[in-house]
Amino acid sequence: MTKKWWHDKVAYQIYPKSFYDSNGDGIGDIPGIISKLDYLKDLGVDIVWLSPCYKSPLADQGYDISDYYDIDPRFGTMEDMDRLIAEAKKRDMYILMDLVVNHCSDEHEWFKKACEDPDGKYGNFFYLRDKKEGELPTNWRSYFGGSCWEDLPGTNKQYLHVFHKKQPDLNWENPELREEVYKNINWWLDKGLGGFRIDAIINIKKALPLHDYEPDRDDGLCNIKKMLEEAQGIGEFLGEMRDRTFKKYDAFSVGEVFNEKEEEIPDFIGENGYFSSMFDFNETIFGASDKGWYDSAVITPDDYKKCCFETQAKIGNIGFVSNIIENHDEPRGVSRYIPEGDCCTESKKMLAALNFMLRGLPFIYQGQELGMENVHFNSIDEVDDISSLDEYQVALDAGKTPEEALQAVRRFSRDNARTPMQWSAEENAGFTTGTPWLKVNPNYTEINAAAQENDPASVRSFYKELIALRKNPEYKETVVYGSLEPVWEDRHNLMAYYRKGDKTLLVVGNYQREEQQITLPGAYKKVLLNNYPDITEDAQTITLKGYQVLILEM
Ligand code: GLC
Ligand code: CA
Repeated sequence: MTKKWWHDKVAYQIYPKSFYDSNGDGIGDIPGIISKLDYLKDLGVDIVWLSPCYKSPLADQGYDISDYYDIDPRFGTMEDMDRLIAEAKKRDMYILMDLVVNHCSDEHEWFKKACEDPDGKYGNFFYLRDKKEGELPTNWRSYFGGSCWEDLPGTNKQYLHVFHKKQPDLNWENPELREEVYKNINWWLDKGLGGFRIDAIINIKKALPLHDYEPDRDDGLCNIKKMLEEAQGIGEFLGEMRDRTFKKYDAFSVGEVFNEKEEEIPDFIGENGYFSSMFDFNETIFGASDKGWYDSAVITPDDYKKCCFETQAKIGNIGFVSNIIENHDEPRGVSRYIPEGDCCTESKKMLAALNFMLRGLPFIYQGQELGMENVHFNSIDEVDDISSLDEYQVALDAGKTPEEALQAVRRFSRDNARTPMQWSAEENAGFTTGTPWLKVNPNYTEINAAAQENDPASVRSFYKELIALRKNPEYKETVVYGSLEPVWEDRHNLMAYYRKGDKTLLVVGNYQREEQQITLPGAYKKVLLNNYPDITEDAQTITLKGYQVLILEM
């Protein structure tokens, strides 16, 4: 495998709106991010991915862009952005922006021009169809609920939006549109960006001609998934984008790729793949139901292990997958992957180590390094996210009580991860001096960055140790490039694997409250990390305490 500059890095995702507010308007901003770069540096972070902060009506919190060349005033100015890139560079850090090009905003000038002249140049930037009374162009259900088709204002046409109606899909079949996208990417890379996280990218290729599929709910609509399974030839677009943009700059790109077929992995992330890396969502999609969140299954420790190992086996050494515990679209990982009632400092550290030591590139989502948890929404009025509001309605429509519907939202809401970052025990978690745009998790008085700073036993300190291990010259080669081999795979509530390179490391986590014994095949040389102060051992037999995790050099 050809070595790349980003292989040994540690990445961190910032959700700008909720990270740090520098001017008291209750909304996180770029100057706020700049003021926290030293915090990230201290943690050991190299690559920082910013969720969108371009000009946007924020219908989907910035994933609806009205100007790809401007910063939304709520987040700051282009000068702030330039300063962020420069300040990051000073610290040997790289900034990634979010590339949202499956769709733009209905307030983008392309869309406005398409409304003015649907048969002109910009009409062809979108998927437009003639409006027919009582009949939709296709029966696809948007990811955020309802039909994917909406009337094109002022015309007798309709436009396609696989996400919200304020996010019209861009027509990638049109070379003029693709040119605009590449121009924009290169413009940003010329500014000195490290690269991009690439949003919702599998949706850019539609199965043509657009047509109906078997409905899967009483609404008579079908999941977009069915169309995407049929769509062929996305590789032509992605290969062209790589060659015209990222490749020329040796930029880093990580794709939000779902449902890839196993035989496509080399095309996506092999040598000369479309992307440098792509996220592993195997755990996050586990248990999802076509019916909606209310019907989704709980993931157990054994399922979690299975999901992680499946991905590792699939990827092997073809390329580098990006491992996550959570992101801005998911509930907090500690609330999801640790069995109910067992979420504590030890179990949070165990989950961190098991995930962080997988082969691939670790991404930390803001607050994950503090062990931030899901928030308890007292009522649906406290929820902002459009997807959560839709799922609430879906549950009600399916006959669930309001409390049951709210419970589903509490478990899966994207807002769980979007509550303000917990910096300190001060008012509003030290996030803002104003009124935060979204409720702060009341547990900030205990879970916050300041309280964990000088505490060697904190989750934050444990993440620092994990990051330091990945960078330690003695172990780096093994942690970054070593192969991964599962051990004791059939043991219940135990997740263990070797990382083998020039050293052999054993990562083992007791994924339960009760103790559990393991017998090592030989003596270990050194304990590299332990979330307890000591190890209970008798010759080669170790009694792991509840949620104990060990990284041993063998
Ligand atoms: C991606 C983003 C998500 C957004 C969607 C539409 O899945 O991560 O937040 O809502 O794309 O852009
Ligand atoms: Ca602000």
